[in-house]
Amino acid sequence: MQNGFDELGDDDDDIPIDRAMAPTIGALIERRLARRDVLRGMAHAAVGAAAVGVGFGSGEAAAAGSSLAFKEIPHTLGPDMAVADGYDAQVLLAWGDPILKRALAFNHKIQSAAAQATQFGYNCDFIGFMPLPRASGPGGLNASDHGLLCVNNEYTNWELMVPGLTRKRDVWQKTSRRQAAIEMAAHGHSVVEVGRKGNGSWAYVAGGNRNRRITAQTRMAISGPAAGDDRLKTRADPSGRKVIGTMNNCAGGVTPWGTVLIAEENFHYYFAGDPRQSANYEREKAGYRRYGIRGRAYYGWHKFHARFNVEAEPNEANRFGWMVEFDPYDPASTPVKRTALGRMKHEGANMVVAPDGRLVAYMGDDQRFEYIYKYVSAGRVDGTKPAANARLLDEGTLYAARLEADGTLEWRPLVFGHGPLTPANGFRSQADVLIETRRAADLMGATPMDRPEEVEVNRATGRVYAALTKNSRRGRTKPVDAANPRARNRHGHIIEIVPPGAGATTDHAATKARWEIFLLAGDPQREGVGAKYHPGVSREGWFANPDNFGFDAKGRMWIGSDQGPDQPRNKIADGVYATDTTGPGRALTKCFFTAPVGAELCSPTFTPDNRTLFVSVQHPAEGSGFDAPLTRWPDFKDGAPPRPAVVAITKKDGGVIGG
Ligand code: FEO
Ligand code: CA
Ligand code: CA
Repeated sequence: MQNGFDELGDDDDDIPIDRAMAPTIGALIERRLARRDVLRGMAHAAVGAAAVGVGFGSGEAAAAGSSLAFKEIPHTLGPDMAVADGYDAQVLLAWGDPILKRALAFNHKIQSAAAQATQFGYNCDFIGFMPLPRASGPGGLNASDHGLLCVNNEYTNWELMVPGLTRKRDVWQKTSRRQAAIEMAAHGHSVVEVGRKGNGSWAYVAGGNRNRRITAQTRMAISGPAAGDDRLKTRADPSGRKVIGTMNNCAGGVTPWGTVLIAEENFHYYFAGDPRQSANYEREKAGYRRYGIRGRAYYGWHKFHARFNVEAEPNEANRFGWMVEFDPYDPASTPVKRTALGRMKHEGANMVVAPDGRLVAYMGDDQRFEYIYKYVSAGRVDGTKPAANARLLDEGTLYAARLEADGTLEWRPLVFGHGPLTPANGFRSQADVLIETRRAADLMGATPMDRPEEVEVNRATGRVYAALTKNSRRGRTKPVDAANPRARNRHGHIIEIVPPGAGATTDHAATKARWEIFLLAGDPQREGVGAKYHPGVSREGWFANPDNFGFDAKGRMWIGSDQGPDQPRNKIADGVYATDTTGPGRALTKCFFTAPVGAELCSPTFTPDNRTLFVSVQHPAEGSGFDAPLTRWPDFKDGAPPRPAVVAITKKDGGVIGG
């Protein structure tokens, strides 16, 4: 593959495709558009069902099984987004939109770090809808027409941000000071007040009182068992309790007390320098190896900030890879890296309260052969005093999942002194266990998974779903197993975890559960793929590479997909695919929304009334460069860059999404 990772010798799947793919994609777009016309023609001739190939259900069969009332749309791979008939998809917030007071208007030709720091960031991912006014009892929690949209800005595609570039490789190793500063200001998180207007459409409030940017330059605190540890101390921070910035913020979560957690995912992209030349190499070498700190940075920030060079600042990398909590209702609040939730390439953290009141956070570590985790607080959530809950994310137990072939799942605790987590294996304290969470989970016998992305609770049933996005090395460096059953797993799968109990009484704090495969993604008609869905899935209903979930109030699953560099191979766009999780429509996925070419579709998020579904369209046109982008979505103006954006999907009649 012509992609960044392979050139950097890295070992992940999730890296942008390069320009070399572009002609292929362009040709595919042409073919897809032509095929759509053919399919439309078939529908007019009323031969749609007869034309469906062997192995797919007909539209009627799908409708009969599924509780989802929308008519699914054809797969696309084109310059624009598409949504099911009867729905509106509206671009609400796009890269560069001026959000802070006195923000500068977006102009890509004269972009600056100062302007970017006042504007919506790049590559939106996690979306948290935080109702306004802040929940203070019945009513507040249910506000669905007014709130704060809390959106991660995961990374940047410089080759699509400024004129004169045609491909990602032109960017490597050539980072200028200006580029690094703009990139750092475009990373992080954006908080934006949004509201629904009388006509049903959404608008953001420019200069809203709580609007905020959190970036790679924002000062934050470190708390929990690893805070203050020697391994977190640097020349700039001898306390080991203060850190500048967060980055590669992928998915996240919302706490029951109204704060937001944002994940630090591929932090290794940002660290340069030869680890063997670092002063702490002997102590840190296992961690450097386990987290992929190999002296090859994907970004050039280290040229201007020595802390991103492990030779100059050997502990700085230990200060990234955490979950970061902040209070979106207080724009002056200091974000806090919560070390008790472990250090990994965090996808996100989805939280639920166990029947005994303890907080449980489900998490994925998104890399090949990494683990599914959960965290259980020591104390109980206090619904009456939000401030009393601050310690719940500092004091608790982190577990890694072991999935047995007999369908049982055991949560194994990562606790210093427990089992092999002792000085004999290099762990001197709980801080060591957390800083090297991956190595601790290795020793505890957790099950290596096919890239765990989001792990999310379906509150209607109490069941938990893990998106395993893909693992092309399954069966080569590690064998297939019951929970990761496909060799060279290109298309990913979804696992259903069933803790004891059901619905509201589900015991998410329990250390035992059951699991089964919910579906195996990919084209069920393609030989050798081994996809498995409900047999009624239509030719448009299959998808590849599950990444994030949204669950509606009826317990239905809305899947966001991210094929990464496989998008041209699969010949379909990423999008939102919806399915029942129980009943006759279980695992009968239907295509609801498709994103423009090059984009992944992230973080489907419902308002509490289920009448709006927010989604992130991340990196449209990825695989191309500014001067010849695959799409100029959403503006479609000559010379304008493609812009990642949050899209608000509503039903034209104002009803509930999905019926
Ligand atoms: Fe940023 Fe795991 O996707
Ligand atoms: Ca993701
Ligand atoms: Ca992703």
